[in-house]
Amino acid sequence: MKTLIVGGGGREHALAWKAARSKGVTRVLVAPGNAGTATEEGVENVDIGAEDIDGLLNLAKSEGIDLTIVGPEAPLAAGIVDRFAEAGLACFGPNAAAARLESSKAFAKDFMARHEIPTAGYKVVEDVETGKAFVQELGLPVVLKADGLAAGKGVIIAEDMDTVESTLEDMLSGNAFGQAGSRVVIEEFLVGEEASFIVIADGDKVLPLASSQDHKRRDNQDQGPNTGGMGAYSPAPVVTDAVHEQIMHDIVEPTLVGLKSDGCPFTGFLYAGVMLTADGPRVLEFNVRFGDPEAQPVLMRLKSDLIEVINRTLAGELDQIELEWDKRYALGVVMAAGGYPGSYEKGRPIHGLDAELPEDVKVFHAGTRLADDGQVATSGGRVLCLVALGESVAKAQARAYQWLAQVGFEDAFYRTDIGYRAVDRDSEGG
Ligand code: AMP
Ligand code: GLY
Repeated sequence: MKTLIVGGGGREHALAWKAARSKGVTRVLVAPGNAGTATEEGVENVDIGAEDIDGLLNLAKSEGIDLTIVGPEAPLAAGIVDRFAEAGLACFGPNAAAARLESSKAFAKDFMARHEIPTAGYKVVEDVETGKAFVQELGLPVVLKADGLAAGKGVIIAEDMDTVESTLEDMLSGNAFGQAGSRVVIEEFLVGEEASFIVIADGDKVLPLASSQDHKRRDNQDQGPNTGGMGAYSPAPVVTDAVHEQIMHDIVEPTLVGLKSDGCPFTGFLYAGVMLTADGPRVLEFNVRFGDPEAQPVLMRLKSDLIEVINRTLAGELDQIELEWDKRYALGVVMAAGGYPGSYEKGRPIHGLDAELPEDVKVFHAGTRLADDGQVATSGGRVLCLVALGESVAKAQARAYQWLAQVGFEDAFYRTDIGYRAVDRDSEGG
């Protein structure tokens, strides 16, 4: 059984690492991969970009790939699953129609309104004046979101009218957000704790994965600009059994039913970013793929065979699968390049990667590159995610930071408080 993982970030390293541990898997290719997948046992990189669908299709045919798993959203939005399906190839993820749930925030909001899925009040605007008038109506603060894909960076929380105006101008003119910005979603600001709720879906049925929590802001205590995610842990104690039930009943199930009745049933990993407000869970965003960095801690805890789970999902046996999880907490801390999420240097040599790690600690690579001389250097904003397991969230946190201290590069930075909400909750005994 040959598997291809599409993408080159930390999530893809975790998927490839897990795939290589699956029974019956003889080869795991990653396109394009990173230095972590290049050096992972049983995994090989192929130099084809994640958005080069023709190249990936040719690779899958020539290498006789049995299963392709798509990590990032861009190829899904561009229709990789549709193209593979036309060629009779198994590719795990939603088709382009279902991927609009992530690729267009306006589509996602209209979808939720139509199917009564709880989310923040909103309006989609195409000009600054209409936007300002809606903000007057809604009251500050508001959240402004560029409509298209923006790698988690097209979201601005505006506390005053000047910021509303300048952000609308920026987003609508396409300056800061490229072509993502021809429309802007303006949303009511929700207050609460966030959680990542990720499920596997087969178009009809769903199987929830372990809960997790990301840390989207760059700095400690959730300050600073939004990023793709600075660290994550699993499980998220804020997702109690009751909250889990509510999210399944009010959000996940109606989403699957709604997509099916709209003619675009969803297969793949579906990720609901939810805000747990005083009035119940509200959807902040949908992603049509595994989270990054959530995948790293979640997959560290998954004891079941990932490839078997996906194959059985594609075979329509999702309702017969029971997932097995490590009871321990997993906590992952992202090490990023100075300047991220803005501009940053690349090519900084990384030290400390050859340290012998215990079996329950793992460094997943993201923006890294392996040079011909074997030196690993930075090549992206989020560079590494070190994950450690622990009996409590505090222990997982302490171990992750202890091991992360051995690794580094010039201008590296990371948050020092990943998991703080769960640690605080634990120490309060609640
Ligand atoms: P999104 O990409 O839509 O998930 O937005 C990125 C981050 O912005 C979320 O993880 C939240 O932290 C924050 N955010 C988005 N929408 C809202 C909202 N309506 N109210 C409060 N915070 C939000
Ligand atoms: N960690 C958030 C995301 O994957 O979009």
